[in-house]
Amino acid sequence: MGISSLGYVALNVSDLAAWLDLTTSVFGLEVRRRADGPAVDLRMDAYHHRLSLYPAPTDSLAVVGWEVASLGELEVLHAALQAHGIVLTRGSPERCHERRVKALYSFVEPHIGIPTEIYYGPLISNTPFTPSRGISGYNTANGLGMGHLVFWVRDLQATLDFYLKVLGFSISDYIAWDDNDAIFLHCNPRHHSLAIMAERPGRPAGVLNHIMLEAQSRDDVGYGYDIVRDKGIPVMIEPGKHSNDHMQSFYLRTPSGFWMEYGYGALLVGPDWEIKNYDRPMLWGHRMVGP
Ligand SMILES: [Fe+2]
Repeated sequence: MGISSLGYVALNVSDLAAWLDLTTSVFGLEVRRRADGPAVDLRMDAYHHRLSLYPAPTDSLAVVGWEVASLGELEVLHAALQAHGIVLTRGSPERCHERRVKALYSFVEPHIGIPTEIYYGPLISNTPFTPSRGISGYNTANGLGMGHLVFWVRDLQATLDFYLKVLGFSISDYIAWDDNDAIFLHCNPRHHSLAIMAERPGRPAGVLNHIMLEAQSRDDVGYGYDIVRDKGIPVMIEPGKHSNDHMQSFYLRTPSGFWMEYGYGALLVGPDWEIKNYDRPMLWGHRMVGP
């Protein structure tokens, strides 16, 4: 029941050229230009696309798309959100075509303020993913979805309740360290598709902390790290291994200001998963570089 995976993310970007350089030279994504305008779709697996970039005067998160398994599930989730007092709009045929899905509803997520879509029936391309640099690809198959998102939120408990009780997520674990307080949530075997962190000075609620993409090879991440260093892209957190999901990763600052995490090798959540509470986010490495 509920959300089955993180399907797609769309961004309004003030520097499309820098974003295209990052997503192709570092992440190796496949560019799919649109015939009807300047927006660009980016492919990372069998799906038509997972990331969309819209040229805009200012940078913002345009939409987060959560996948559900069927039309029936979509309607059940629609009803649950309505019962929660949320106003939803059924996606037009044009919007569904733009997202390359069979049906969707859009709404503003009430706790973080995220423009959100729930959908089912993603378009799968009959051609193989053709990366723009030599990479093994991304760990998205078997229902794992695009990756994960992390947000700062005002009310950690209310936000948690919404994702658990309305959207059907489950808790993976907790990490509290220094003045940070984070909760990790899963909706499929990926350790977390979403994490929420309590806001704090300089880290206001509603702001995207980072997007994570998980490579199929440690070498993809290693070569990517070298490219980032060679190009002078700001590294925000050095390579390291997370305490909870054991992801080996590093973080860079995107042209929009928020971060992206490029990782490999995370644990999967299974039926015998035990919820833990950690006192540090890393086992080793992951030293902060930026402010
Ligand atoms: Fe992450």
